[in-house]
Amino acid sequence: MAEAMTTALVDEIVRTVLASAKYAALDPTLVAEVAAQEVSKGRRRKDAIKEVKTRLHQSVGAYWDGHTNYASWRAALEAVPDDAAQETLLRSIMRSHHSMRERMPFLEHFYRTLLDAIGPVHSVLDLGCGLHPLALPWMALPANALYLACDVDQEQIRFLDWWLAHYHQRGRAFVWNLLDGAPPSDVTGRVDVALLLKLAPCLEQLERGIMQRLLAEVTARVLIVSFPAQSLGGQRKGMLATYTAQMEALLTGRLWRVERFEFPSELVFRVHREIT
Ligand SMILES: C[S@@+](CC[C@H](N)C(=O)[O-])C[C@H]1O[C@@H](n2cnc3c(N)ncnc32)[C@H](O)[C@@H]1O
Repeated sequence: MAEAMTTALVDEIVRTVLASAKYAALDPTLVAEVAAQEVSKGRRRKDAIKEVKTRLHQSVGAYWDGHTNYASWRAALEAVPDDAAQETLLRSIMRSHHSMRERMPFLEHFYRTLLDAIGPVHSVLDLGCGLHPLALPWMALPANALYLACDVDQEQIRFLDWWLAHYHQRGRAFVWNLLDGAPPSDVTGRVDVALLLKLAPCLEQLERGIMQRLLAEVTARVLIVSFPAQSLGGQRKGMLATYTAQMEALLTGRLWRVERFEFPSELVFRVHREIT
């Protein structure tokens, strides 16, 4: 009886949250998991809805500057006359997402540093990708490389899936809630590189311990795991030390070779899961 009431309350919270325009395209499984957590804390309907929306904002919505217009981005990308115009347009679209905007000043250097030494990279799995697949022209992957990208917003994923086809990149974008663990290897196969860029703070806020699970489950030769070096408000205090310690804790007991890189707004660890 109590279980049925809890289920009904979670369902009602999910329906209410998905009914608001800001969250309408979100993967319902993510909304349901966060709603279930809040209900299990004994929150009442109204407080639970408020808390679910706050946590979804902190892990997904806060990174967007509010100007997502996938249809107009698509039309503009279809109309660019050449590669140079495409790169200019991509840069302006990528600025709509905070994580990509921060990376913009060192985009070329980022991929040269992180990918050149481990190449050729024939397959990439981009977890919680945001708008990162739009940076493909800067990644300089081999022509036939496979690019798989996932996130929790269905409209964003439709746009990115269109973009991969438009850019003639083998691969696809798909909706995947990482609170359910890494996408299974029958979906992704074994990839050369998995990207977990600036994911840890969002995901750990949703479910403590989830990064540990993802590092164990992702079937990739190399993991590139990054953390923001500054907060959304631009504060840097203590973040490098905090996230370095967090990464060290995540790697405890694992015989993996790890390299550490500092970029102006991003701390990156390149993890070689096979011992070399
Ligand atoms: C800080 S952004 C990083 C985006 C991208 N990785 C980058 O660095 O440019 C965090 C991303 O994680 C995604 N995200 C949050 N919760 C998620 C979940 N449960 N499953 C999959 N992706 C999630 C958000 O939608 C957002 O795109």
